[in-house]
Amino acid sequence: MFKRLTRYLDQKKLSQEKNHDVHSKQAALFSSKDAHFTEKLRYDALPRANYAYGTYYAALQARALNIPKISTIEFGVAGGSGLVELENIAFEVEKETGVVVDVYGFDTGSGMPQPKDYRDMPYVWQPGFFKMDVAALQARLKKAQLVLGDVEETIGEFVKEKPAPIGFISFDLDYYYSTVEALKLCEQDSEFFLPRVYCYLDDIIGDDFEIHNHFTGELLAIDEFNQRHEKRKIDKINALRYKRMLWSPWVEQMYVFHIFDHPHYCTYVNPKQNWEAPLNK
Ligand SMILES: C[S@@+](CC[C@H](N)C(=O)[O-])C[C@H]1O[C@@H](n2cnc3c(N)ncnc32)[C@H](O)[C@@H]1O
Repeated sequence: MFKRLTRYLDQKKLSQEKNHDVHSKQAALFSSKDAHFTEKLRYDALPRANYAYGTYYAALQARALNIPKISTIEFGVAGGSGLVELENIAFEVEKETGVVVDVYGFDTGSGMPQPKDYRDMPYVWQPGFFKMDVAALQARLKKAQLVLGDVEETIGEFVKEKPAPIGFISFDLDYYYSTVEALKLCEQDSEFFLPRVYCYLDDIIGDDFEIHNHFTGELLAIDEFNQRHEKRKIDKINALRYKRMLWSPWVEQMYVFHIFDHPHYCTYVNPKQNWEAPLNK
């Protein structure tokens, strides 16, 4: 019994030390100007590691499919800090992969619209929250394009512009109805997308007053989308946390929009040229 307890305490100490090492490395990478983008991403040493993860792996998928340019989207921009970060990430990912990354931000520009019913969870969000200073944000942006207006109206126009295949989407419109409208983009022809589109779902965790569930909000909109489409599914990246150095909340919020009817869904994109599992000697 004593032996077992000592072994348990030793292991606990070891894992605490490992944790401490990982956090020290993360802090060092965060402040480093020379650290490589992929090393920063490995340790979540970026302001929006979620956006970086989705954009980077989307670009790798595009490169494997010989697609030279992709689009990334932030649905719900508010003041614009996220969009500015997505733009910074786009520049880094372009340098790293050679794939050009376009960036779009969708928002009313005037804050949250009127909620339609209880499914929009008005008990945590109110009309007019998250106003944008459009001129100030425009002045900060180098390549990202703002698409202003209610997504109910702007998606149709956006699609007419024939953007490069979409590889990453952040869904952060808070309301159920807004997410339903944004998901209409995911009903477009497969040419608008990579076969697997990385998605970050912001409104599925939140603070203690946001009680996210499958009967309201973003999760309900995703469930209904999945029910309506046999060949298109948005699902969590299963057990992503075991692939990461740190168990950050965003890891639970990374999903992928699978387009099973995409002509390249089955095209091999794994960088491994060959995969063997020989018998142990
Ligand atoms: C929480 S904020 C986004 C925060 C931002 N993603 C960030 O990380 O800084 C939600 C935004 O969604 C926008 N929004 C909500 N419903 C919308 C709709 N139907 N059409 C366009 N924008 C909408 C609001 O204007 C608001 O700015």
